[in-house]
Amino acid sequence: MNESEARPCARATARANFALVKYWGKRDAALNLPDVGSISITLDALWTETQLALDPSLERDRFELSGRHDARASARVSALLDRFRALSRRQVFARVTSANNFPTGAGLASSASGFAALVTAADRAFGLDLPPERRSELARLGSGSAARSIFGGFVEMHRGERVDGRDAIAEPLMDAARWPLQVVIAVSDRSQKAVGSTEGMVRTAETSPFYAGWVGNQPNDLEAARRAIQGRDFEALARVSEASALTMHGLAMSARPGLLYFNAATVECLHRVRQLRAAGHAVFFTVDAGPQVKAVCLPEASDAVAEALADVPGVRELVRSGLGAGADCGVFDRMDRPA
Ligand code: DP6
Repeated sequence: MNESEARPCARATARANFALVKYWGKRDAALNLPDVGSISITLDALWTETQLALDPSLERDRFELSGRHDARASARVSALLDRFRALSRRQVFARVTSANNFPTGAGLASSASGFAALVTAADRAFGLDLPPERRSELARLGSGSAARSIFGGFVEMHRGERVDGRDAIAEPLMDAARWPLQVVIAVSDRSQKAVGSTEGMVRTAETSPFYAGWVGNQPNDLEAARRAIQGRDFEALARVSEASALTMHGLAMSARPGLLYFNAATVECLHRVRQLRAAGHAVFFTVDAGPQVKAVCLPEASDAVAEALADVPGVRELVRSGLGAGADCGVFDRMDRPA
């Protein structure tokens, strides 16, 4: 162990989340302010663990993801840590290691859990002890969906109106324990997506003739989802969630050039989910900026859903999850090698 590894270290865990009412589009790219609100569920089986130690001997931040240096990710991490240096008035750099227990950049929300974990660890290491809504605001600067992973269970991200973004933050809607839904993820491609969400959103806003319609309709979908969640009305949540996912993808397809995140297995999984629901199983689908299909279901339906999706040609792996908690953090006397 070298000397720098022996410094106190904050170790945070944040879990991935998937939106049921989708975020797609920004009102301000520099502050990463969304053009639409969104509603998500936080999962317990997909997580990022981030360790962060302040080290006065460093002349710049050092970031490793899964044991490897990544220049592009490092720039985003350092930009966020600059905020913590400014807030704490401490010009000190950090050693940061991060590891996901799932593939990065394949539409499984790694930026969401990644930035939520980073902000939570930095908050502790810099001694700020910010309230969760402030951590949500800071996580949003890293990635819009990360603002939601600060919280567990059912979460709403607000579009906000302010130009400084102080109101573009997430808040918890309902605890996971009050409606313990399950998720079966059908993974058909583990590679990094060709067009990331950030670039895809910008292209869509600039070129789709339907963008204004998407933004204008979002309050209706948010209201329908809020009601469905409060009333634990699965059918209503299924309707609005599938509509939001398909509308987001239809919108992305209408960009020029069109964005196509589905593969053949994606489409087949969507049909299977609808067949299952027609046969009486409580399940619906959602899909993000990648080909993986996330089937959200009541616990009693999850075995039948897993069996049906495992059978779809092109599905390589299933990941099953319940709903999870918000980001949390502990302090340890030294850094560990990431798991
Ligand atoms: C399709 O949060 O990854 O998953 O703010 O540019 O980092 P940036 O985008 P990101 O986009 C998520 C898009 C989505 C839908 C969602 O999670 O709401």
